[in-house]
Amino acid sequence: MASIGIFFGTDTGRTRLVAKQIAKKLGEAAAPPVNIGRTTVEQFLAHDALIVGSPTLGDGELPGESTGLTQPSWEEFLPQLAGADLRGKTIAIFGLGDQKKYENEFVDAIGILHDAFVAGGARVIGRWPTAGYDFAASAAVDGDDFLGLAIDQHHQPLLTEQRLDTWLEQIKPELLP
Ligand SMILES: Cc1cc2nc3c(=O)[nH]c(=O)nc-3n(C[C@H](O)[C@H](O)[C@H](O)COP(=O)(O)O)c2cc1C
Repeated sequence: MASIGIFFGTDTGRTRLVAKQIAKKLGEAAAPPVNIGRTTVEQFLAHDALIVGSPTLGDGELPGESTGLTQPSWEEFLPQLAGADLRGKTIAIFGLGDQKKYENEFVDAIGILHDAFVAGGARVIGRWPTAGYDFAASAAVDGDDFLGLAIDQHHQPLLTEQRLDTWLEQIKPELLP
């Protein structure tokens, strides 16, 4: 499918709102955002270019039933993707977290998703500098970068819009053929 697929997980709705912001900014290039708990592997794999988002919940975990969600989410979807051939897919990841309260597992979900997609053969794009954040540790960091866009709506909500604009300009040429 030519359009960019946007898939998100969420508990309290913040990641869904950011996914909608992204879709609005991309206009016709993107399909409407879809909750990952309400889709199928087939629908996910219908896109060659994807933007995926997730909060980190629990203790540095993906959202899902073990973090208290009553609906399935990334925790339930990722095992279904195991073994799928993701070669030819280009995927950018964004993650929501709280860098003060969870300073030792800030946006860990970005790292978990990154590793799963890379294991399937996908090309993951959209690294983002860790400069400008204040946290101690994260499974989403490689060198001086996050493996996707880190968003903190609790402590840096006013930076989100600019971060999204800059990140989208960076990844758009790689997502759009
Ligand atoms: C129980 C709980 C655990 C959390 N654990 C983490 C965490 O380990 N790392 C992190 O960066 N943020 C953590 N957070 C913060 C959420 O990721 C943050 O509130 C996010 O904006 C929620 O997005 P949502 O509204 O899409 O669910 C946690 C929040 C809750 C309520």
